[in-house]
Amino acid sequence: MASKNRASLTHKVRYAARNPRRVPPYARRLARDAWLRMKTRDHVGYYRAVMRSDASRTPFGAVGTPSEKRWLALGELQFDYLVKHGLKPGDRMLEIGCGNLRAGRLFIDHLDAGNYYGIDISPDILFAAEDTLVRYDLQDKLPHLTPVRDLQLEFLPAAHFNVVHAHSVFSHSPLDVIDECFANIGRVLAPGGFFDFTFNRTEGKEHQVLREDFYYRTETLVTLAAKHKLDATFMEDWEANDHKQSKIRVTA
Ligand SMILES: C[S@@+](CC[C@H](N)C(=O)[O-])C[C@H]1O[C@@H](n2cnc3c(N)ncnc32)[C@H](O)[C@@H]1O
Repeated sequence: MASKNRASLTHKVRYAARNPRRVPPYARRLARDAWLRMKTRDHVGYYRAVMRSDASRTPFGAVGTPSEKRWLALGELQFDYLVKHGLKPGDRMLEIGCGNLRAGRLFIDHLDAGNYYGIDISPDILFAAEDTLVRYDLQDKLPHLTPVRDLQLEFLPAAHFNVVHAHSVFSHSPLDVIDECFANIGRVLAPGGFFDFTFNRTEGKEHQVLREDFYYRTETLVTLAAKHKLDATFMEDWEANDHKQSKIRVTA
């Protein structure tokens, strides 16, 4: 539920009592993440190291769906939503944090050749994305897959993308990363284009867990978007599905 504070000691103690078998893996993750934080300079470097560690075990797990069935379902959920909102083969799409193309493979198949551009901070998950292209026979669609250091987007053309999509990326991002994205997204959006992103919504205190999962109030993100002269709309129709995150659409 949107108001739960997963960072609070009360929540952690209650959760551990209800799920004793999850305590050892959580403790291992806590230790690993502390080690990775020590070795890296900033959030993006840290999260890139988390992705390297997770992807070396299973790329499906690294994007949050260890079972292939859930991986397929989460991809379809994203794809069906955008098609319902009018995604056409001629659209030019940028996917921020494309992962191993859980949804990207469906976007690539749907869009005209060359019209999909996926970026990610993790080279390791992009290697897995290439495996997905091979597995689904999508080579002829010639998608672009590019590792990025940050979200300045300065290497991309202005006013180019009708649709920008980021699923389960800001749920792993501190506010300064989202701020950087908002500062630059307006430049690459084509006239009439939109940027959809999901986020972990809380109606209580904003918090984070292990610097991996971040929880925001809707108004924080709407206000941040306005600072960059972007209009943000909470997407009520997305709430009807069983996904834990909420969605906001931003236009320039
Ligand atoms: C949970 S996965 C979701 C992947 C994909 N969007 C999907 O739904 O299958 C989050 C992805 O976002 C990437 N990511 C996290 N922070 C990012 C950032 N600041 N810029 C670009 N990619 C980022 C991660 O490397 C990872 O591949």
